[in-house]
Amino acid sequence: MTSEQIGRLAAECGTPAYVFDISVLKQRVAYLRSRLPERVQLCYAIKANTFITGALNDSMPRFEVCSPGEYRVCEALHIPPEKLVISGVYKTPSFIRELVETQPGIGVYTVESPVQLRLLQEAAEAKKATLPVLLRLTSGNQFGLDKPVLREIIANRSQWDGLDILGIQYFSGTQKTSLKKLKRELEHLDELIAELESEYGFVCRELEYGPGLPAFYFQGDTFDEDAFFAEFSQLIQQLHTSAAITFEIGRGIAASCGTYLTQVVDCKRNKGQNYAILDGGMNHLVYFGQSMAMKLPHCRVYPLRSDGGEEVWNLCGALCTANDILVKQLSVRQLRIGDVISFENTGAYCMTEGISLFLSRALPQVFLLREDGSVLPVRSATDTYPLNTPNAQ
Ligand SMILES: Cc1ncc(COP(=O)(O)O)c(C=O)c1O
Repeated sequence: MTSEQIGRLAAECGTPAYVFDISVLKQRVAYLRSRLPERVQLCYAIKANTFITGALNDSMPRFEVCSPGEYRVCEALHIPPEKLVISGVYKTPSFIRELVETQPGIGVYTVESPVQLRLLQEAAEAKKATLPVLLRLTSGNQFGLDKPVLREIIANRSQWDGLDILGIQYFSGTQKTSLKKLKRELEHLDELIAELESEYGFVCRELEYGPGLPAFYFQGDTFDEDAFFAEFSQLIQQLHTSAAITFEIGRGIAASCGTYLTQVVDCKRNKGQNYAILDGGMNHLVYFGQSMAMKLPHCRVYPLRSDGGEEVWNLCGALCTANDILVKQLSVRQLRIGDVISFENTGAYCMTEGISLFLSRALPQVFLLREDGSVLPVRSATDTYPLNTPNAQ
C-alpha cells in the first residue's frame, strides 16, 4: 500500500483499525493455485482471520472450523455446510450432536481421540446417518491420535459403522520453511497410507495436510517463494498415494491482505530515548513467536516528511506492560502526534489471537477494502469492558 493510500484509509476509517484488501487476498489465492499441483485442493483455516471468510467462498472448496463459534461465523456467512471441515481438539458434545441432527450435509468431521470417535459414532447412530470422518494423526503433542490407536481404529473400522473413514488429517505446526521437514512429513504419511492398505485393506481416499506455509513479517526476511513452491510441488507429485489431497492453510492465505492502522497519541523523551505512544498495541498485532520489537516489521509512517533530520523512535502500544513495544529504534523524520503508522502483512491471527481483554480496551474496527477501491466497515470498535465487568456484586 502506498503512503497516500494509507493516509486516505486512516482518514476514512480512523484508528486503530484493520483493513483487509480483498484484491490482495484473491491474488494470493490465485498465486497459491498457480504454484500448487492441480491435485491439491485448498482449505482455509478460518482461525487465521474470520473476516475474510466470505470473500473466499467462491475460490475455496473447504473451510476448517475448530469451535462452535467458528461454525456460527460460517453459518452467518452462508458458507455451504458441505464445505466445512469440523475440526478441533475439543468437540463440544452438545454442539456436535446438534450439528449432526440439524446439518446432515457437513463436509467432514475430524477425529482427534477415541472419545471423539465414540461421540461421532453415537451422534451418527442417533440420527441413523453415516458421517464422513478424517482421523487426525498426532505429530507428538496433544492433537490427534497416536499412530497405534489410529491403526487400531482402521483395523476395527467395521465396528464404527456410523462413520465413513475417508482418510487422514495431519498438521504439525506453522511457519515452516524447511523443505526437508515437509519432505519427511509427506513421506511418513505416504508410507502410513500404504501400510494401512497393505495391512488392513484400507484405501485412503483423502489426505488433509496442513503445510504451515510461512509468512514474512520483518524487514530483511528473505525467502524465494517461487523456488519453494517448485520444490514442494515436486514432493507432492512424488507421493505414491492416489488420495485426494487438501492443504489446510491459514497464515499462508490470510497474512498478506492485512494492514493494521494505528496512530501516535503521545510523544515523549525518557532517559535519552524517544517514545511514541500509539492508540493500538500488541493486543492488536500478533506476529509469530517472540520476535516483536527485536526485528523491524514492515511498517510505514504517514505523512512522510522530507524536512528535518532523522530521529530514532520507539513505538509503544497503549497497554500497561513494558512489553508493549511494536517497533524499537525506528528512524523517522519529525514524528508527531496524529501521525499514522501502518503495519503490513497483518491479515493472519492478529485479530483472532490478540490479548483482547487486557486493560479493557476496545477491539479495533475492521474494514474490507473492496476490489472497486471502496471501503466496507464490517465491525465497529467493540467495547470489551462488559466482558471484564462482573454480572452481579
Ligand atoms: C489443524 C490446523 N490446520 C491448519 C492450521 C493453519 O495453520 P497455518 O496458519 O500455519 O496455515 C492450523 C493452525 O493452528 C491448525 O491447527
